[in-house]
Amino acid sequence: MSSNNAINLSSIQQTSHVNQLSLATLGKSIAISGLVLFLFYTLMYNHPYKPSSDIFTPFIEQKWPSNSPYNVTNPPTNISHIMFVLAGSIKTWNYRKPYIEAWWRPNRTRGNLWLDVAPTEYLLPWSPSSPPFRINEDVTQLKNIHSKMVDPIQVRMYRSILETFKLGENKDVRWYVMADDDSLIFVDNLVEMLGRYDHNKYYYIGKNSECVHSNFQFSFDMGYGGAGYALSYALVEVLASNIDGCIERYQHLITSDYMSQSCLADLGVDLTIEMGLHQIDLVGDISGLLSAHPKTPLISLHHFDTINPIFPSKNQSESINHLMEAANIDQSRLLQQTICYYRPSNWTFSISWGYSAHVYESILPRSILRKPLETFKPWQKVRPPFFMFTTRWPSDDPCQAPHVFFLETIQNNDRDNLVLTSYVRSSPRNLRACSSNANQSAEPVSRIRVFSSAPARKEYGKIECCDVEYVAGNDTADVKLRACMKGEMLA
Ligand SMILES: *[C@@H]1O[C@H](CO)[C@@H](O)[C@H](O)[C@H]1NC(C)=O
Ligand SMILES: *[C@@H]1O[C@H](CO)[C@@H](O)[C@H](O)[C@H]1NC(C)=O
Ligand SMILES: *[C@@H]1O[C@H](CO)[C@@H](O)[C@H](O)[C@H]1NC(C)=O
Ligand SMILES: *[C@@H]1O[C@H](CO)[C@@H](O)[C@H](O)[C@H]1NC(C)=O
Ligand SMILES: *[C@@H]1O[C@H](CO)[C@@H](O)[C@H](O)[C@H]1NC(C)=O
Ligand SMILES: *[C@@H]1O[C@H](CO)[C@@H](O)[C@H](O)[C@H]1NC(C)=O
Ligand SMILES: *[C@@H]1O[C@H](CO)[C@@H](O)[C@H](O)[C@H]1NC(C)=O
Repeated sequence: MSSNNAINLSSIQQTSHVNQLSLATLGKSIAISGLVLFLFYTLMYNHPYKPSSDIFTPFIEQKWPSNSPYNVTNPPTNISHIMFVLAGSIKTWNYRKPYIEAWWRPNRTRGNLWLDVAPTEYLLPWSPSSPPFRINEDVTQLKNIHSKMVDPIQVRMYRSILETFKLGENKDVRWYVMADDDSLIFVDNLVEMLGRYDHNKYYYIGKNSECVHSNFQFSFDMGYGGAGYALSYALVEVLASNIDGCIERYQHLITSDYMSQSCLADLGVDLTIEMGLHQIDLVGDISGLLSAHPKTPLISLHHFDTINPIFPSKNQSESINHLMEAANIDQSRLLQQTICYYRPSNWTFSISWGYSAHVYESILPRSILRKPLETFKPWQKVRPPFFMFTTRWPSDDPCQAPHVFFLETIQNNDRDNLVLTSYVRSSPRNLRACSSNANQSAEPVSRIRVFSSAPARKEYGKIECCDVEYVAGNDTADVKLRACMKGEMLA
């Protein structure tokens, strides 16, 4: 949403600037003040044609400073207050079932998987590890909707909100969370995130696409359905009685999430963006993105059918289960980037906890490393700018290209309250050593062990720091996570 603001503001400003130039009679001073204003807006809001990673970050931080309220409601929000509304279909369920079962907690997570038709014998008996299923009403038979729907499938999916509401199982429900059958949800982080908002007010919390073009085509103000979006229960109540009217009004829209944001807009509710939700409108290798996650807890991932397995040595469902091993031990640190230095060799370590570790043969500051390496491609073949965030182009300069390691094992050692994650080299880097660094190659390192303290959740909105313990020539480097010291510079 802020990006849309930025575009509007700077284009208005550009227009007025042009007008001022054509009205030369108005004199120099106005042109100069126009220029000053133009520069001001350009600097303030990021020019739309220079994609910037942090289009949203300053926005979020101004709205919720680091002492942002936790547990704004009493008693605090927990897993039992969330009603999941999962949109599925018989055709896709067969191969998407592993995605949902990786995060669904039977008898603890509440909600349903909504299907188009009753499951065939092939899918029965229904797995107790899956969410219970429900069959949507046939929208083509509805008497109160007179429109010629462009896409009845999308209308069916959208009406799952209403049909869930009508089940009357809303006791103590504070939030409805909509997601697709190929969304992976990190439930503990979701609970914490929702706990920062008051469900008695109207909230529509989601995230738009990574791709500028998708947002341009649909909306910059839309919570994309695969990333998942949350509606406060107060909002669900007013929405339920209006949904069919909205379907009539927005019959020409081709996706359910677009209908949803249009209907909510008409109720006066706009999107609140949360950076931990990920639509993943990307193709190929998304390891660059997952190795430099924004410093907010990971809440969702999506589109596993269109990206490479996230761990190069595993297939997709093995990869998801592998990531969930780390998620089940410490979601608060999952994919959180921690950076530290081995000064005797001028090496930089960048850890994405529970996923990857990168070692650079030079000292790189956090301002660089927080930009994802552009290992992935946009959803559609379009002209740049592709992404809503700044990326780094992968380099074969030995001083800029990382040695890459992926999570191998995770051990939770209750005795000394330490969690040990171990990352192994995925393949040789095949570059000579960085010569401006006295040729001190990191090639001998084949394993990185990261120690973190458990079970305390990492504090929301804060990064952690670390120390490297290494003896030159050893094949193993140890990294110990710790709180950052006051004023500690990562550079
Ligand atoms: C929020 O409440 C839960 C449950 O009482 C508690 O475990 C958690 O520590 C609280 N979070 C914060 C940040 O106070
Ligand atoms: C969630 O909070 C409610 C109070 O609102 C409490 O009764 C319930 O036991 C809690 N459930 C879990 C799973 O913590
Ligand atoms: C869920 O609860 C039902 C009824 O209480 C019980 O029969 C079933 O075994 C439980 N399922 C799991 C996976 O714990
Ligand atoms: C992934 O690998 C596992 C274990 O090797 C195997 O059981 C499963 O069928 C594979 N899945 C796919 C989709 O290939
Ligand atoms: C590390 O970098 C510093 C500053 O550039 C330089 O003075 C020092 O010689 C370097 N050390 C090694 C081992 O290259
Ligand atoms: C680094 O290696 C290059 C190529 O092998 C060599 O020319 C250069 O002298 C070496 N630099 C140092 C500081 O050892
Ligand atoms: C290499 O490092 C590991 C882990 O820190 C340590 O256990 C081992 O003793 C070291 N080996 C040598 C030869 O220093």
